[in-house]
Formats: sequence, C-alpha cells, structure tokens
Amino acid sequence: MTIVLRGGRIVTASQDYVGDVLIEGERIAAVGSFPEVDAEVIDATGRLVLPGGVDPHTHLDAPLKGTMTADDFESGTIAAAIGGTTSIIDFPVQQKGEDPRVSHEAWASRAEEKAVVDWGLHQVIVDLPDEYFPALDYLIANGSPSFKMFMAYPGARMVDDATIFKAMRRTADNGGFVLMHCENGPVIDLLEREALGAGRTGPEENAVTRPPITEAEATSRAIALAELARVPVYVVHLAAAQALEAVAAARKRGLPVYAETCPHYLLLTEDVLMEPDFGGAKYVMCPPLRTRSHQERLWMGLRTNDLQVVSTDHTPFRFAGQKELGRDNFAKIPNGVPGIEWRTTLLYHFGVRKGRIDLNRFVDLISTTPAKLFGCYPRKGDIAPGSDADLMVFDPEKDVFLTAASQATRSDYNPYEGWEVRGAVETVLLRGTVIVRDGAFVGRRGVGTFLRRSTSSALT
Ligand code: URP
Ligand code: ZN
Ligand code: ZN
Repeated sequence: MTIVLRGGRIVTASQDYVGDVLIEGERIAAVGSFPEVDAEVIDATGRLVLPGGVDPHTHLDAPLKGTMTADDFESGTIAAAIGGTTSIIDFPVQQKGEDPRVSHEAWASRAEEKAVVDWGLHQVIVDLPDEYFPALDYLIANGSPSFKMFMAYPGARMVDDATIFKAMRRTADNGGFVLMHCENGPVIDLLEREALGAGRTGPEENAVTRPPITEAEATSRAIALAELARVPVYVVHLAAAQALEAVAAARKRGLPVYAETCPHYLLLTEDVLMEPDFGGAKYVMCPPLRTRSHQERLWMGLRTNDLQVVSTDHTPFRFAGQKELGRDNFAKIPNGVPGIEWRTTLLYHFGVRKGRIDLNRFVDLISTTPAKLFGCYPRKGDIAPGSDADLMVFDPEKDVFLTAASQATRSDYNPYEGWEVRGAVETVLLRGTVIVRDGAFVGRRGVGTFLRRSTSSALT
C-alpha cells in the first residue's frame, strides 16, 4: 500500500517546510515532492503534518483505590488516537510478594488484545527482595527498560528509600531508566489524618494536605538517590515550582535528570477543587493542582528545557460511582483526570497559539523527546525515511468545543468542559494505516503492537 500525504506543512522537532510524505507499507519511504506517484492521496494542504504523539504516562485497565480506571486499553487508546497519539507507555503495577513479570504479562495481554495504538510498559516496582533482581534484568532485556516507583501512598504502592536505591542501582547496571512519583508519602499521610480528624473532609483538602514542599522534598531526595546510584531519573507529573527548581539545579550540575508535566498542571488551578456539590472531586489528583504562579514556572520550564515532556497521566474515572467513593473522605477519592484525548489540541492552543512555545518545541514535547528518552527514536517521534508512518494531520484553524458529551474517553466528565480552543486533529495514521479520519476513529481493536524499547535512549 502506497500513500502520499500531499502538500502539508511538515513540522518536526527541528524542521518546518511544505512537502509530501511518501508512505510504503508501515514506514515513511521518503519526504519531498511526489506529484506523479501512483498512490492513495491524502490532501494536507493548509494543515500541519506532525509525527504521531508519544504519551509516556497513561493508566489504562488499571486498579486504583478499590476501583478501576474508566478506560480500558480499547477506549483509552481510541481516545489517544483521536487526540493524535500513536504510542503510549502504561504502568503495570506489581503486587507485593509477586514477581514483577506477573503484572507485566497481565498488562501486556490486555493491551495486546485491545489497544488500537502502539503501547509500551514501564513496570511499577512495589516490592524488591533480591530474588526479583533477575526479573528487572529480564524486563530491561525484553523491551521495557524503565521502571516507576512511588514515594507516595504509604501502605499501598510506596517504597522506602533503601528499596528505591536498590532498584536504581540495579537499573543503572543494566542501562535502564527510573521514573519517580515524587511526594513525601508519610508526611502527607499525617496531614490527611489531621485534616480528617478536624472534620475537614472535602476535595479541597487534596491541595491543602499535599503542599508544594512535600513534592519538592521528594523530588530532591529522588534526585539524590539517583545521583548516588548513577542512574538517569525522570520525575513524573511535576506540578510544583519548587520541585522544578530541584530538577533545574540538578540539570545545571550536569546530572541526567528529566521531568514531565501535564496539561492539567499547566491549565487548571487548585481553585477548581472548590467546585460546589462535591464537583471538586473531579480534579483530585496527586500531586494536586497548584496556583497560577506554579503554572507560570512550568511554562517557563518547557521553554528552557528544564521540563522536556508534556504527558497526560491519563487516569480517567467517572464522577458517578467512582469519584463519589470519597464523598465523606477526600482521601478515598480515586485520584486522577482524563487527558489523553486533548493533549495535542490544548498544548497547541495554549502553548503555540498563545506564543508560549514555538511549533518545533510543541512537537518535541509531545512526540520527539519522549520517543528519545524512552528508547524508541527514530522509529517513533520523527518524520523521516525509515521511521514508522505514525503521523497526524492537524488543522490549526479548526475550532474545537470540549465537552463530555462528545468525548471518546469513558470518563463522564471533561475537566475542560465548555472550553473553546483552536486547532484540531483531523487524520491519524498508525504505521501507514489511517485510524482517524475527519476526527473520527476508523481503526480496529488489537492492531496496536508492543513498543519494544531499547536502553540506548538518545537522552537530551
Ligand atoms: O493522581 C494522579 N496524578 N494519577 C494517578 C496515578 C499516579 O500517577 O500517581
Ligand atoms: Zn504518579
Ligand atoms: Zn500516573
């Protein structure tokens, strides 16, 4: 099958020009001008042609606080595709006392059966007796060279510093990469218990009991442990300015320290936690939303490359029956928000259109750098001969009205309900097959394949 994407404005992390993209089978064959080629033509005149998005932080088919995320690998990846994302990396969660490969295989089989875009896995380590070291070695050697650990959620997923250090040291020996959820779990736990004891039970306590310093302290500690273990570290869902200062200072010292933020931290403030009738529960997450001044620091971090990635941390729940589990106790509200469907549009509108970042940086943040950091570049994250034909045609002038009424994610609310933004994903190709046409999903369940990632990250 030969396809030509004709006459679009081709934008990569480093280039910007008008041309055609020639696709043969699953790969990009050439980029240039191909007026005579006998092929199916997709007209991209007046639109942007971008590499498919790479979202390295999603939670699909995932248990959390006694319930499951509202999206499974099918609905979640359909939402991803509609949002221009053609590769995701999700998080299998190890059970205590269980070889990490067990959860890894369970996640893989669900993804294999259902995913409509390509998928990789960062294994979450919850428990690490020495006998599980070979499992880490195995996962690194078999295409999943990155692990996540939690410094939050004591009694559930939190690991202590010694375990973090052990996992980091082993990962360093294997050439892998460690992702850290940075919040001081024990201190937050105490603050939560004090709030509940004082009768403060509402969603707004999500921000009160997780102040920025608890995020900054854990971020500094994670960086220190990674420095000691000589391993590259990636701070997930960074929200607080002080945490970003810790990342920036480490990078200035030349340490391999990286961080992502998410659209909700760039665009929503903690004020929404006060929404009446328990509405604030929709925005409960960890770390919590912060104030305007933090947002400004995050935008600056995206420009200065102290933040290298915008992921979504897509953790969708329904308000009805799921967020409501915490009506009498904010600590029981399943934490997280949906986001995978709107990352491209939101970052384009509020980043590029508002003049905060340029087009190349936009592509870099949502596609190229995550592909590089997580060992799948240049197969993913670029428009070049030999790369997978994962592409989106993006209409920069089309208006989009964000509403739960028309979204693909199975969450029953939209955190950006009623927002009007400009810039829409029109067509998406996954390895040379059109999976979104005119903004509608036209792909098939199960066609997403395992993203076998290498340890040789082209780190930036
Ligand atoms: O609450 C948030 N941010 N997401 C849920 C899982 C995680 O990444 O900690
Ligand atoms: Zn996390
Ligand atoms: Zn997450």
